[in-house]
Amino acid sequence: PNIAVIAGGDSSEFFVSVKSGANVLAAVDTQKFTPWLVQMHGQDWNVMQGENKIAPVDKSDFSFTINGEKTAFDYAYITIHGTPGENGVLQGYFDLLNIPYSSCDVHSSSLTFNKWFCNNYLRSFGITMARSIKISKGEKINSAEIIENLGLPLFVKPNAGGSSFGITKVKSEDKLIEAVEKSWEESSEALIEEFIDGAEFTCGLVKTGGKKIVFPVTEVIPKNEFFDYEAKYTPGATAEITPARLPEDLYEQCQQLSSEIYDLCQCSGIVRIDFILKDKKFYFLEANTTPGMTATSFIPQQINAMGITLQEVITKVIEDKLG
Ligand code: DAL
Ligand code: MG
Repeated sequence: PNIAVIAGGDSSEFFVSVKSGANVLAAVDTQKFTPWLVQMHGQDWNVMQGENKIAPVDKSDFSFTINGEKTAFDYAYITIHGTPGENGVLQGYFDLLNIPYSSCDVHSSSLTFNKWFCNNYLRSFGITMARSIKISKGEKINSAEIIENLGLPLFVKPNAGGSSFGITKVKSEDKLIEAVEKSWEESSEALIEEFIDGAEFTCGLVKTGGKKIVFPVTEVIPKNEFFDYEAKYTPGATAEITPARLPEDLYEQCQQLSSEIYDLCQCSGIVRIDFILKDKKFYFLEANTTPGMTATSFIPQQINAMGITLQEVITKVIEDKLG
């Protein structure tokens, strides 16, 4: 079967995605599958060989032709972070073409990619998280009222986005408007969250053949003020400890909560859930349905720590939908 590993996309996470795509491409078992790298940027979709475009993708049936020979993709491994690969848009395209893919379905992707919707949905099931408000582009920002409600410092983030683009930790009232406007560059809505003063933990998981594997929990210790873009992608800028040094009951609580959220959001494929731990309670941050897969990302680390290979997990994910 021909497997398209799809990278790129239309958000600030383009370059992260290119790295994730390269790492997944290298992990596809070539004894079983024929992997191709596909890079998408706006309407420009191409089959790549390294950094070179070797053929445009025919969007009418997700195929390409080289020297008069047509190849149709049988499966899509989506490594686009953000739009259109993490929010259900690309998933809808593949549903229409009846091509199986690696990620959550349309509904689950669009729910989880919209933090406001996802938070309200999960809160109704008793999941703990920071209090927040949402401000749409162009809406009036009443800084005094927001700060009276949520306190200082607080976090301003794009309601739909990743890799910490557009996120600001706001420490004084006069910086709030600027922070909201910055987040609007990434997403048409800003989410303003109360600050939870704790440590960050993240847990990946995958379900294939109806069986779930919960990966080890990772402890994230950024040397920056918070786990921002630089901390995420500069080697050495963050200490990441897998498995996390947590008492057994808290460790299990984190894994169980991740599993519960995965089920509540009706996820499939590899997903990673992020939390802040404060006073022995995990506060839900977000669910990443096309999580970072770069060589140093959490998911490959967690898989490594389990003593299994990325190739084994990716094979399971592909075979689950390919049959
Ligand atoms: N959005 C980044 C890639 C992550 O969640 O890992
Ligand atoms: Mg994320």
